[in-house]
Amino acid sequence: MSTQNESWGSRVGLVLAMAGNAVGLGNFLRFPVQAIQNGGGSFIIPYLICFLLMGIPLLFVEWSMGRFGGLSGNHSTPFILDTMGKKRIWKYIGVFGIFTNLAVAAYYCYIESWTLAYVWKSLTGVFSGQSSDAVSSMFSDYVSLGTAEPIVFWVICLLLNTWILSRGLSGGVEIAAKVGMPLLIFFGILLAIRGVTLKSGEAGAIFDGTEGLNFLWTPDFSTIWDFKVWLAAAGQIFFTLSVGMGSIQCYASYLSSRDDVALNAMSAGWMNEFVEVVLGAAVIIPISVGYLGIEKVVELTQTGGLGLGFRTLPFLFQQWGPILSVLAGVAWFGLLFFAGITSSLAMGTPVMGFLRDEFGWRRESSAFAFGALVFVLGAPTVMFFNHGVFDEYDYWAGTVSLVLFAMLEIIAFAWIFGIDNGWAEIKRGADMKVPIIFKYLIKYVTPVILIAVFMGSLLSEGGILDKIVNKDIKAQIAAATDPQIIADLSTQLNYVNGSRLLLVLVFVAIAVLVRVAQVKREKFGRIQPNA
Ligand code: PHE
Repeated sequence: MSTQNESWGSRVGLVLAMAGNAVGLGNFLRFPVQAIQNGGGSFIIPYLICFLLMGIPLLFVEWSMGRFGGLSGNHSTPFILDTMGKKRIWKYIGVFGIFTNLAVAAYYCYIESWTLAYVWKSLTGVFSGQSSDAVSSMFSDYVSLGTAEPIVFWVICLLLNTWILSRGLSGGVEIAAKVGMPLLIFFGILLAIRGVTLKSGEAGAIFDGTEGLNFLWTPDFSTIWDFKVWLAAAGQIFFTLSVGMGSIQCYASYLSSRDDVALNAMSAGWMNEFVEVVLGAAVIIPISVGYLGIEKVVELTQTGGLGLGFRTLPFLFQQWGPILSVLAGVAWFGLLFFAGITSSLAMGTPVMGFLRDEFGWRRESSAFAFGALVFVLGAPTVMFFNHGVFDEYDYWAGTVSLVLFAMLEIIAFAWIFGIDNGWAEIKRGADMKVPIIFKYLIKYVTPVILIAVFMGSLLSEGGILDKIVNKDIKAQIAAATDPQIIADLSTQLNYVNGSRLLLVLVFVAIAVLVRVAQVKREKFGRIQPNA
């Protein structure tokens, strides 16, 4: 019995929506920066291994567990996990799958709105004739809210998300993916060709575009045992595939019992990797390295990852003449916008699924509730962007929660639900033969690596425990002598602690709602279908 008459319109639409879910700002902004920060060629090996040993197994797990939960009318992870394990703790572990989406959406939609603003700026030619410093400080002015512009674009972006979500899966999300994905790939290919064919000496470039690509693709084994590189690689795989979030389970919960999950999961997952390692790698890296050289680019990524995409590229595009530069700007920021919105829509659906399943809300009201919650939770990241609130959300919700939740859900799947049941779920209706090796990967290898990654990030230098006690900021305060710097750092400490408190409160609030839902189910049974 399902309480929602919601479903996907077609298989192509489903795969594009799932690919749209995965392909996001992570592919074009986060991946290049992670790769550069972690040494280029020494990043790519751990990255690919993490994809094969954790990414693919988790895709199988999340798709099949979503479809399984959906069959009994559950569309968000608290009650999807509840159908798989008897203990009530699983429901509360499932809270992560709503919490993470909300908290990530809170900062993600803000970046998404920058891309919209930057399409507009490119179109109206504000970058033309500006020096590189001027273009860069335009971004600083933007995020310090010198004008109301960022707020206006942010609100437009939230309204757009809310509106599309209120039209449902086949009438909204699927259409957005069918329009957005092809356009994004088209823009990506254009820019990638430009990046790869960039020649030194031409339009002010000092290196060939291939210089940056060589940096990324020349394997380097010197840091292969560095734990930090592995953490970064695993973190990127989770973020880019959207695993450990709850949004894949939610999308999959709208499948019917004999719909394929295996081939679909592979199609969407590999499409994401194509866009990431082929297109995502062939724009920012070759273009910025071509103009600035590797050292400068590495330096720029150390001082804030978003810098390259927003501070640097619009200036570099100006070197290509008046017409091409406008086209490149629109292609680049337009691509980012489509990548972003098809992902933020995916973050909305688990929240809506929960409200509709448990409280019988209508689609429009639950879409609106999502928009309003993102507005409230996002406001601190918008207003206090310069105080580290944004990074705090990204660390706890966008990194730690993903690994933690993925670790717990794969244990639920392989050990509580049981690998034999789980394997049967993966194979049911499958349009491809799933190699048996995945059964063993899912049962042993992936959980063990996940536990290792989690324990490592808990205990390592600068890891989760150090973060909790604010070791880094406190050390900086202790070392500082200038009273002004000390005062600034103490303010930052307050913002950091404040944002954590807020995130914890959100988590607790969702857990309370899950409890209320459980009590309601026990008293009144499941709610009746609504439109
Ligand atoms: N995978 C998306 C990206 O690469 C981010 C995302 C995370 C989307 C979680 C949905 C859910 O940007």
